[in-house]
Amino acid sequence: MLYDQTLSRVETYFDKTASKTWEQLTSDAPVSKIRQTVRIGRERMRNKLLGQLPNDLSEARILDAGCGTGQLTTELVKRGASVVATDISNSLIQIAKNRIPKDYHRKINFHVGDLCNKDLGQFDYVIAMDSLIYYSLNDLSRILIGLKQRTTKEVIFTVAPRTKLLLVMWYLGKLAPKGDKSPVMVPHSLGKISENLFGIAKVKDLGRVSSGFYISQGISCI
Ligand SMILES: C[S@@+](CC[C@H](N)C(=O)[O-])C[C@H]1O[C@@H](n2cnc3c(N)ncnc32)[C@H](O)[C@@H]1O
Repeated sequence: MLYDQTLSRVETYFDKTASKTWEQLTSDAPVSKIRQTVRIGRERMRNKLLGQLPNDLSEARILDAGCGTGQLTTELVKRGASVVATDISNSLIQIAKNRIPKDYHRKINFHVGDLCNKDLGQFDYVIAMDSLIYYSLNDLSRILIGLKQRTTKEVIFTVAPRTKLLLVMWYLGKLAPKGDKSPVMVPHSLGKISENLFGIAKVKDLGRVSSGFYISQGISCI
């Protein structure tokens, strides 16, 4: 699928179809047992990614790429960072703005749009948790190269790893009825990403988190 088509599916999904579900999942509101496993897994992954960063980020400018409702943005500001929080979904950006304490807002530049936009500027770190999981290897590699060129330190992100379960889910997603416009996760291997970024960035495995239906792999491009 072409990049623009994937982006448009992602936008419709997070901005309309699933925005309420996503709002709930990323809050403390009660959720089903299955979603609770996802919530727990995501919290573990968030902590893993945050564990890559220095505790004191007061000099750092960070892109929260595909920030959703702003869970990571909040943690980054708590450590003193200046954050550009961008997401293609206007609804989720509005939720982030309402949720994040007002006295943090002076450290945040909220932005509705594509995380690839070069006008967002230069960064010390980019962090993209679960936002690049819908893109093909070619698109993912192109996105990472673009982000790395504008980042002095690390680009930290997650992918859906190529486990048997996720490959089955991916095939099932591909077989979904034609009218189903939900974005489908594309599992990736670290080796292929590393090959595609050869000579541009070193790729480091940050390890996997597996919790119920949440299976994700942290990666850093240095
Ligand atoms: C699974 S959610 C994760 C949100 C957030 N990073 C978190 O972990 O809570 C994926 C988010 O990435 C955003 N996204 C995906 N591709 C994007 C792109 N190219 N530009 C901006 N946002 C994007 C979606 O709109 C969605 O809010």
